[in-house]
Amino acid sequence: MKTIGIETSCDETAVALYDSASGIIAETVYSQIDLHKKYGGVVPELASRDHCEKIIDVFNDGIGGVDLHDIDRIAYTAGPGLLGALIVGESFAQGLAFALNKPLIPVNHLEAHFLSPFLDFPEIQYPFTSLLVSGGHSLIVDVKDFEDYEIIGQSLDDAVGEAFDKVGKLLQLPYPGGPHIEEAAKNGDPMKYDFPRPMKHSDDLNLSFSGLKTAVLYATKDLNINDERSNISASFQEAVIDVLSTKIKKAMKQTGNKSLVMAGGVAANKKIRAALDMLEEKEGFKVFYPSIKHCTDNAAMIAYLGSLKTESKNIYNSNVRARWPVSEI
Ligand code: KG4
Ligand code: ZN
Repeated sequence: MKTIGIETSCDETAVALYDSASGIIAETVYSQIDLHKKYGGVVPELASRDHCEKIIDVFNDGIGGVDLHDIDRIAYTAGPGLLGALIVGESFAQGLAFALNKPLIPVNHLEAHFLSPFLDFPEIQYPFTSLLVSGGHSLIVDVKDFEDYEIIGQSLDDAVGEAFDKVGKLLQLPYPGGPHIEEAAKNGDPMKYDFPRPMKHSDDLNLSFSGLKTAVLYATKDLNINDERSNISASFQEAVIDVLSTKIKKAMKQTGNKSLVMAGGVAANKKIRAALDMLEEKEGFKVFYPSIKHCTDNAAMIAYLGSLKTESKNIYNSNVRARWPVSEI
């Protein structure tokens, strides 16, 4: 069965084609980063307009020359995300499904992120714990089974990726800050600044990053950023790693799950991966990461998830949702 995936929830226009028998046939991601860079963050109106301009070219690339009549279903991201951006993907998907007379499958972007490691590791077994860390979300989910998800921890304020991006801005690094902070941190001393570890010792599995970001703001006042960029990056990243490792250790104990899946854009961070790998050894669970290209937003994960869903009805009503907690799937 061949499923097209269409992703337009934020600042990536992406299309992929997944075959249940042979895996990903083709995939393309067009990133709008250059468009939003000068504003230091995603501008929703510009994002929607750019999805409109790019989606046809991205689609032609993303189906890898396969005859459209050989497609079995069309999946698209229906939320959570920027409403205007989501509507572009939905309208395109609806037009396609109508023209080809094929089923249309609206899917949840977060569910797609935390099932994305199955693309590379089909051997993963339910139940597992998922650490989903992206620019918009920081969630710890008990994935009991397919479509049976319990959110057991989440950020009460900024998402992890958002904190990386805001700290990147303070350190005068390009948007998005995450990969640039990871790079700058390589030459820095992670112990130079003793940044706070918000909620590290709280009884629950919730997270908080806005206090950490504010601590970096104070540390950068009256500083020559160019002299201290590496040390601040390394110390900030160390604080994030410390909090995430502590919460994951607790989450694995609480759920009793034997596997951890890390997903979302921040899962591209090799230092965070190394810290979780150490936990894996010490605590005796197995960690799975999507390939780097499937950590950040992509359509392969949307096509894959679409291939697993049962067909829904009333597809020509709008299904897009800015907010869509995975516990409501
Ligand atoms: O999953 P994603 O592409 O989009 C959302 O759904 O949010 O995640 C983007 C986020 C950005 O905040 C970016 O700074 C962060 O992922 N990110 C990283 C790294 N690569 C991307 N954060 C830390 N280290 C990285 N190497
Ligand atoms: Zn995402």
